[in-house]
Amino acid sequence: MTAVGIDAVEIWTGKLKLDLPGTFAPEKGDDPEKYTKGLGLNNSSFPDAYEDIVTMGANAAHRLMERKGLSPDDIGRIDVATESAFDNSKPVSTYVAGCLEQVYDGDFHHANKGERKFACIAGTQSLDDAYNWIKAGRNRGRGALVIATDTALYARGDAGEATQGAGAVAMYVTEDPDLVELSTHQGYGSADETDFLKPNQQFPSVDGKRSIQVYLARMREALEDFESVAGASHPDQYEYIPFHTPFPGMVRKAAVLGYRHMIRGTPIEEELAAEIGELPRPEGFAEDEDYQEAIREYMDALSDTDAYREWYAEAIEPTLSVSREVGNWYTGSVHLARLSALRDAAEKGTDMAGKKLLVGSYGSGAQAEIHAETVADEWDEEIEAIDVESQLDRRYDLSFEEYEEVHDRHNHEKQTELEPFTTPDGEFVFDGWGRMNERKYTYVE
Ligand code: COA
Repeated sequence: MTAVGIDAVEIWTGKLKLDLPGTFAPEKGDDPEKYTKGLGLNNSSFPDAYEDIVTMGANAAHRLMERKGLSPDDIGRIDVATESAFDNSKPVSTYVAGCLEQVYDGDFHHANKGERKFACIAGTQSLDDAYNWIKAGRNRGRGALVIATDTALYARGDAGEATQGAGAVAMYVTEDPDLVELSTHQGYGSADETDFLKPNQQFPSVDGKRSIQVYLARMREALEDFESVAGASHPDQYEYIPFHTPFPGMVRKAAVLGYRHMIRGTPIEEELAAEIGELPRPEGFAEDEDYQEAIREYMDALSDTDAYREWYAEAIEPTLSVSREVGNWYTGSVHLARLSALRDAAEKGTDMAGKKLLVGSYGSGAQAEIHAETVADEWDEEIEAIDVESQLDRRYDLSFEEYEEVHDRHNHEKQTELEPFTTPDGEFVFDGWGRMNERKYTYVE
């Protein structure tokens, strides 16, 4: 069977940053540790005045095409996943193609283009579309460009304001990929939920606390569904487990649930029983309330064991490093988690070829998906070629007043003028409005 998966990745962060503990927390009257320890965030990324989901997506794709020496003829699909679209008809992928055609000979007239929407899980769904297209043999030797791009802004004063972010992840999906091969097996947990939605409005209506519970419930269903086809999972099976990361504190909650599930019935559970007691089973309790209380106590104790802490430090913590510095990239966030994990492996010199990742995606509304990935032989060259640190370091550090101006600039109802804080250099920029209210873009040398 032909291996299909991600051949290359590039990212583009919004060029501004907001220091959450240093700049945001004091204005909100919050303890900085709510951000660094509770939510697990240091900084958020924001788009400069000339950036938006199209420029970030096109710039990530351009960087990827340049590095891999690709031309438009190598690309048979452009799929954009976003929950920040500004048009209910014309997809962002057409704007991205228009940008790329400014800098390449040839065009994308042969390429199927679309836009995927299902909150943050749409990036993974676009990967699926690309995978299925190649597996079906419809790709004529071409690869698919999958772009997850978002400006994750919340209304000023909303609790979600602490978890904002902006950036794009571009992925090239091919046969015999250099980075990771995707598994055929998948698991889903999907239900009609109203945890987070944008009914024809830019900023989300969010029930934050409920969204955390829905994430956990759907993720658990997805894991059980995945295991029904792939067999029981074990913590030692996966080198890293990248999750959708709206903020790292969310992943902390998902990880302990996942670990409890995976150790059930294994020697690890037996060994831990001497330390923290048996894992409570519902049949051992007359009342569900008592069972839930026993489970909570067990989970608290479990998260304090050396076994859990070591597993978390190796398989989960490294997936959070980029998210901590950029905030929530919605559709791109789980793909940043994979990238963070592989960067960690490259830094440690781990031989990852043939090793497995378990990838957990989530979108509010709500759906979780779990699949496995096998790391390809050329993974380390690919990871080392991606410029992450310098992009993060180059961001302009906003004061609180500047942050307020940036938020207004990107508020569709305000669209205020704003002098850019940075100077574009070899990138696509937003360049005003056309006669049909379309957004226009130029490439700045
Ligand atoms: N030191 C250490 N931790 C602290 C702290 C301090 N001084 N102050 C607060 N915390 C912890 C809290 O205990 C909490 O952690 P816990 O949930 O593990 O208990 C965390 O920091 C967040 O604090 P909380 O008071 O719950 O924050 P909040 O009411 O402002 O809202 C969200 C948090 C996540 C609900 C909010 O940011 C939100 O709505 N986000 C958008 C929706 C989202 O991303 N949902 C996720 C699923 S997609």
